[in-house]
Amino acid sequence: MFHPEGPTFAELMRQALASTERGYDLIAPKFDRTPFRTPDEVLAAMATHIASVSGGTVGSALDVCCGTGAAMRHLRPLCTERVVGIDFSEGMLAEARRRLADAPGDARIELVRGDALELPFEREMDLVTSVGAFGHVLARDEDRFVAGIARALVPGGRFVFATGRPPRPTEPWFWMAHGFNGVMRVRNALLRPQFIMYYLTFLWPDVRALLERHGFEVEALEGLCPAPYERVIIVSARKS
Ligand SMILES: C[S@@+](CC[C@H](N)C(=O)[O-])C[C@H]1O[C@@H](n2cnc3c(N)ncnc32)[C@H](O)[C@@H]1O
Repeated sequence: MFHPEGPTFAELMRQALASTERGYDLIAPKFDRTPFRTPDEVLAAMATHIASVSGGTVGSALDVCCGTGAAMRHLRPLCTERVVGIDFSEGMLAEARRRLADAPGDARIELVRGDALELPFEREMDLVTSVGAFGHVLARDEDRFVAGIARALVPGGRFVFATGRPPRPTEPWFWMAHGFNGVMRVRNALLRPQFIMYYLTFLWPDVRALLERHGFEVEALEGLCPAPYERVIIVSARKS
């Protein structure tokens, strides 16, 4: 899971003791060698789905919490106008800038430094994606997060993301995720600045009600990702 060229344990600890934003600045150069970067197999399955529901291309796409630009690389060939990534870590954006220099496609690439809870876009995106980032959105901010995405989309536009179902108590991941969340709750109660990262958020089917509250028609697509990601669910939410 961890790559020899990825961050060391000490570097990951330093990240976890910093603020969320500064933590990502610190590991940005090595981020693509961590298991936290969304795998290309999942991004490719999302891109195939997007192409199939949009007649092959979309005009403008936004990737929220774009990190090093992993999703933007898959989105660019689908876009005819622009592909925009927003993230609050300057370090991650610098990596995205470098890594996207040879991304296939002709759409304009825009990298914006900003907060996912304060998206500065209004009825201008045909597609919004977000992957690997919902753990950074506190439960109390979920409505604000989805409201910003709904506002960024044109009517008929789509919000597409990857998630999963809640693990069962018989699965090791159930205990690992709850254990991690417990440690982070204690860390964030005791230390400042906080590092916001919790597992088991935006899970299917709970996320459906959140999306419907913001005017989305929602479908969940299972079995689109190859092994070992076959349990990943791609949620495709159309703004009515
Ligand atoms: C685990 S990384 C995922 C990056 C990329 N989406 C991927 O899947 O490879 C999470 C990213 O979310 C960004 N992030 C977290 N909270 C954010 C916020 N409130 N506003 C903007 N970016 C945020 C971090 O800086 C980081 O780049």
